[in-house]
Amino acid sequence: MLEKLLRKKNVVSDHSIANRISGIQNRHIPAHVAIIMDGNGRWAKQRNLPRVAGHHEGMKTVRKITRIANDIGIKVLTLYAFSTENWKRPKLEIDFLMKLPGEFLSTYLPELIEQNVKVEMIGNIDMLPRHTKQAIQKAMEDTVNNTGMTLNFAMNYGSRLEITESVKAIAKLVESGSISSEDINESLIETHLMTKHLPEPDLLIRTSGEVRLSNFMLWQLAYAELSFTDVYWPDFDEVCMLNAIEEFQLRNRRFGNVEGEGNA
Ligand code: IPE
Ligand code: IPE
Ligand code: MG
Repeated sequence: MLEKLLRKKNVVSDHSIANRISGIQNRHIPAHVAIIMDGNGRWAKQRNLPRVAGHHEGMKTVRKITRIANDIGIKVLTLYAFSTENWKRPKLEIDFLMKLPGEFLSTYLPELIEQNVKVEMIGNIDMLPRHTKQAIQKAMEDTVNNTGMTLNFAMNYGSRLEITESVKAIAKLVESGSISSEDINESLIETHLMTKHLPEPDLLIRTSGEVRLSNFMLWQLAYAELSFTDVYWPDFDEVCMLNAIEEFQLRNRRFGNVEGEGNA
């Protein structure tokens, strides 16, 4: 009886999710959504589980959110998976986190291919352990010709490092005489960032109740809409994602101008 009821509830919620997706598609869909996936450790602690259990559970959320983002028609989904500051964590936790891309991709790569998703990465790949690097490289190679959503993992990513590297590269261009300092402008800086081929994020979501950027896309988020939720990443589901996007669509983005056009 209970099972029957639950199944019924699922059908209803699947139906309402589909309705909400079509509602979203009738308005302006954010081209790029970036997510700071936070709260795995606290999710586990709440259940008296080790922190790594939260990271493992968080992988299932990655699968769910990738699927719904792709269904909605979002062009780029960037997921902050490991920051340049996360190396400060205990070695055991880091080792676990470094195994997750391999596990995630060996389980879900066929599904991503089927969904026409293209896997990419921003961050310094060279500093990652060999097995992590290989898993990510294989996923990128296997999906390079896919034309659907780009699933962009920020792995060993830090925005200050990214900006520092771009300043260094531009300084070299000036030093060698290829450009003069007068040629430095915002678009030149942008073309030296790791996101040079991507649109700017329209919407940033951070889970777990923390209200900070933690060195994530500091340049790129200049005009993004920010959405914070108390939900821990392993509990973030399709409904949470739809809530964030619907809220985004009600915002009035002015970009410094006075005549605000809604997103509808
Ligand atoms: C996010 O969850 C995952 C990573 C930063 C790798 P946390 O591990 O930060 O979880 P909390 O914030 O400690 O709960
Ligand atoms: C930000 O989360 C990094 C990722 C989600 C990968 P953290 O949990 O590391 O951020 P802080 O330390 O709370 O700022
Ligand atoms: Mg955290």
